[in-house]
Amino acid sequence: MNKIIYLDAAASYQKSESVIQTEIDFLTQNYANAGRGICARAVAVDDMVARSRARVAGFMNARIDQIVFTAGTTDAMNMVANMIPMSARTKLLVSDIDHHSARLPFEQKVLARAGVINVCALDDNLNIDYKNIPYADVFVITAMSNVLGMPQNVADIIKAARDKNPNVITVVDAAQYVVHEKIDVRAWDCDFVCWSGHKIGADTGVGVLYVKNPDRFQPVKFGGGMVNKITENKIIWNNPPDVFEAGTLPLTQIAGLAQAIDELNQNRPNMGLIKYAYDELQKIPCVKILSQREACVLTFVVDGMHVLDFGALMGARNVCLRVGNMCASWIFKLMNRDGAIRMSIGAYNTIDDVKYFIKAVKEIVK
Ligand SMILES: Cc1ncc(COP(=O)(O)O)c(C=O)c1O
Repeated sequence: MNKIIYLDAAASYQKSESVIQTEIDFLTQNYANAGRGICARAVAVDDMVARSRARVAGFMNARIDQIVFTAGTTDAMNMVANMIPMSARTKLLVSDIDHHSARLPFEQKVLARAGVINVCALDDNLNIDYKNIPYADVFVITAMSNVLGMPQNVADIIKAARDKNPNVITVVDAAQYVVHEKIDVRAWDCDFVCWSGHKIGADTGVGVLYVKNPDRFQPVKFGGGMVNKITENKIIWNNPPDVFEAGTLPLTQIAGLAQAIDELNQNRPNMGLIKYAYDELQKIPCVKILSQREACVLTFVVDGMHVLDFGALMGARNVCLRVGNMCASWIFKLMNRDGAIRMSIGAYNTIDDVKYFIKAVKEIVK
């Protein structure tokens, strides 16, 4: 049996045939650069990018000029950490459900300027405790932990932060949230949101950065496509979002992204499968589940077995899972563990995949 049972969508989502075909069509029939040509082919690529951007804007309830294409969440988080002015007085607020990609770019910046880092409280279920948000100048909010998979109450968290400081700059990491829940940037009232295309079935190398007030921030990457005019005394940048998109965009991936959004809108991963797996794993005495039944991922450990050994044994049975600290060291430190095993699904996974997974777990632990 060579079939792979891929239960690792939270690391990267498998690509549908239509996303792949969209990219092939673009590469073979429509390819040119964007923002640089005036021939019909180049103009058609500009139109494709504009259509994709409009699709992303609609997907998040944003305006078109607020949507910046990036290389992914990590790239966007690093950009934002450089866009926000920080000083020795900056109070950065983070949480222990953060992914390294969300928190490290800001921590590094604030540490370099001798600012202050605070970690906000989590409640008993390890969700951000929005009733106890301290004062912050910059607040990094993970909308869904990649380890625990619970959607956070982003709107209330931001409201609580604004009650303490109306000028707080809120940065939302929606890398995991985006595939499961609808993002509404107006309801959230956030300043920035970042996510990666590959987590929703688009290609690697493309991501989205939402900027609420694009005119208030300066670019942090410089190059072609962002300049309106250079005179002897000054440089006039292009308007947003172009000013934040120096260099050639990942055009093929942008073409695929619009297709992936359309498919996600029609077909989100079926969380009933996670609940089914949760109920089955709960019957196995040596399995300890760390995530909640309502979570969008299933994270667990097995008594007496190292997570890497367990992952290798599942791999030998053709089951792909994520094991280790999942680039989220802080939550593991809080739980007093080195790592865990995570099972996650895309819309393409079936009950048979989950039954196979359960069968393989039982074989290994018996
Ligand atoms: C919650 C979270 N944030 C950020 C990232 C980083 O995303 P990328 O590697 O696509 O930049 C991930 C990836 O696993 C994630 O799960």
